[in-house]
Amino acid sequence: MKHFVSLDTLSLDEIMGMIEESLRYKQGDLPPLFDGKTVANLFFENSTRTKNSFQMAERHLNMQEIPFDVTTSSVTKGETLYDTCKTLEAIGVDALVIRHPEAGYYHELVEKLNIPVLNGGDGSGEHPSQSLLDLVTIFEEFKTFQGLNVAICGDLVHSRVARSNASVLKRLGANVVGCSPASWWDDSMGLERKELDDVLAESDVIMLLRVQHERHIMGDIFSKEEYHTQFGLTVERVERMKEGAIIMHPAPVNRDVEIAGSLIEHERSRIFPQMKNGVYARMSILNRALGGLQ
Ligand code: CP
Repeated sequence: MKHFVSLDTLSLDEIMGMIEESLRYKQGDLPPLFDGKTVANLFFENSTRTKNSFQMAERHLNMQEIPFDVTTSSVTKGETLYDTCKTLEAIGVDALVIRHPEAGYYHELVEKLNIPVLNGGDGSGEHPSQSLLDLVTIFEEFKTFQGLNVAICGDLVHSRVARSNASVLKRLGANVVGCSPASWWDDSMGLERKELDDVLAESDVIMLLRVQHERHIMGDIFSKEEYHTQFGLTVERVERMKEGAIIMHPAPVNRDVEIAGSLIEHERSRIFPQMKNGVYARMSILNRALGGLQ
């Protein structure tokens, strides 16, 4: 694997290998070390989890981060993304982690750069490192994907997490449905649309999505209270979940909108374990992109 821009470009064997590798790191296996290798993390959209867990993974692999801050870079003088990345390649950076608001921003980069591009999220396109950590979390829980019932719930149309997970979970044999307001539905994901209340009792995974206020104006459609009551995971709904079923959310969470605030650390919730698994998943991504042992 050179670039890591979408799980669609990886075989199921490669994906399963990365899940197992991530879980080995979690169990304490020592990762390969990349002394002298450098990484730049270019975040053109804000991030807490993705940026910091890539940075943590880089430290675990003994890589050195070359700090890059968009707001003090020559991007502010109009330098293009390609010229920015080519510059970092020219000065010796070995890999680039990039989050950018434009879906598919990476197409030109993967054609023309000689160093790996690791996609930290491209607009409403994909979020493959989040998807990999979600797969790690599901596999850790159920030891399989085959036949699992997964409901992806919420703001589907704006969600790169939903797009990545819908695609890969179907390839892995899960039964995936979507639950969303009609105005936030996206047919292109190829999911059957269901009501959350109709799938609660049979779903193994309730995967909630953040309402993306920055990509639309929710108040034009619902109040927060209306959304929570109609489409959110309420304290009452959690009581109707299947035995052994888990709650996931990529975070950040809008408390009391997608999920009741009191459920975020509920025994069924894997929201913080997802974040922990993100470090191990990103160690696997970096290892493979830089040609380390698999
Ligand atoms: N889940 C996720 O991508 O979070 P951040 O936006 O904080 O990176």
